[in-house]
Order: sequence, then C-alpha cells, then structure tokens
Amino acid sequence: MKGIILAGGLGSRLRPLTKVTNKHLLPIYDRPMIYYPLQTLCEAGIREIMIVTGGNSAGDFLKLLGNGRDFGLPHIAYTYQEGEGGIADALKLCEHFAAGDAVAVILGDNILQGSISPFVRRFEEQRSGCRLVLKEVEDPERFGVPEFDGERIVRIEEKPAVPKSNYAVTGIYLYDSRVFDYARDLRPSARGELEITDVNNAYIDAGDCYYDVLEGWWTDAGQFESLYRATQLVAEERMKKALARA
Ligand code: G1P
Repeated sequence: MKGIILAGGLGSRLRPLTKVTNKHLLPIYDRPMIYYPLQTLCEAGIREIMIVTGGNSAGDFLKLLGNGRDFGLPHIAYTYQEGEGGIADALKLCEHFAAGDAVAVILGDNILQGSISPFVRRFEEQRSGCRLVLKEVEDPERFGVPEFDGERIVRIEEKPAVPKSNYAVTGIYLYDSRVFDYARDLRPSARGELEITDVNNAYIDAGDCYYDVLEGWWTDAGQFESLYRATQLVAEERMKKALARA
C-alpha cells in the first residue's frame, strides 16, 4: 500500500497566515503541520509516500523534508497541484505513482492522537473497496457527514446545513485502485471543486464502503479555531508524555 498526503490548496481560510506560505508548513506546537500526517503514515508502516503540494512555497517542502531521512524513509515523491481544484483533483495527480496499488490518503491538515495501523490492517483484509475513518464531533456541519441506515453508511453529505448524524468523515481514506476511475468521472461541486465526498459516495453506490470510528482526539487545522485547537491538543499530549517519563 502506498501513502498520499494532500498538502495543496491556497489555505484561504487562514489568510494572512497563508499569504506567503503554504498552510501545511505552519507550526503546530513544535513542528510544521506536514510532519503530523507524515508521521501518521510512517507509523502505520507505509514506506512509499507522495506529497501533493501547491500554491505558495511549494519548494519549501523539499527543503524541509528532503528524501524523508528524518522519518526513516528512503525516498519521498512530490507533485504540484495548480489552483484550488479540490481534494479529488489533487488525488488524480497520484494515479501514476499508485501504479495500480491501494492507497492510504491523508489530508495534510488532519492531526490525530492515535494510530491508523488497525484501520490499515482491516482494509488489507477487506481486499477491495474503500475504508473511511469517522469521528464523533460537536460541529458536523463543518465536514463530510455520513447518513446511516442501521450500521451501514447510505450517503455522505458535504457540509450539510442539517447534518444527518454527529459524525465527521475525517480526512483519512483507504482506497483500492478504483479510486482513480471514480475521480476521473467527477464533476465540480457548487464550490467549484472535485469533492472527495463524491468519490466516497461512488464507493457507497457500489456497495463497497466500510468504516472505522476513531477513538482519541482528531482535528483538522484549516481555520483559526481548529489551528489553535490542534496546537493545544499536541501541546497537552507532549506534556502528558513528558510527565509520564519523569
Ligand atoms: C474536507 C472534506 C470533508 C472532510 C474534511 C476533513 O473538508 O471535504 O469531507 O470532512 O476535509 O478534514 P475541507 O477541509 O476541504 O473543508
């Protein structure tokens, strides 16, 4: 399985912090944001990783991460997304890199306390389809939100005014190679982007969408409040670990 980190976009919700730099290079406590999703993939045993960047300071990713030596990787692949075509548009740039393999995709601003290893193992047993990672949240209207029929997801709505559940579809997605066929068929949404939610709905329509529910904290960091929250959560975690060691 290969890993993909989506770190493009213009980060317009974080202006002026993102006026001259890429959102994923901003600090979360003591590290640049991109370190966290990279760590998440590495920890799950994923060794072949591509970073999709874009917008400002794209070259700085190379300076910061190089070939991934600090993460114990032999190599990192990079590509560049022009404009703000959306998450699924960025994913399309990775078809050549995936070369028919399954992929673990993580949004570059998603930060979580725990490990995705159990989900990756379950996805490998599942053999085909997609596996989503859900998290119960207080503000589902900010996210992709699943609608359930019993235990089964029947539809995902992107940022619904009236959410049909209290779960967010986090930015951690496990896909078989069909993801690139689904992404090719997408049409832009009302916000002019190719939506990852439409890819996920294609898997649901095919009857091949599974999920896990995340325990431990999770946050995105694309707005001032969530960026601040991410820093707080990481800081608390570090202090807890330091106390436990003392
Ligand atoms: C994106 C996805 C959304 C998902 C979220 C997770 O939202 O479109 O479905 O719940 O990431 O972070 P965006 O950050 O582009 O608003």
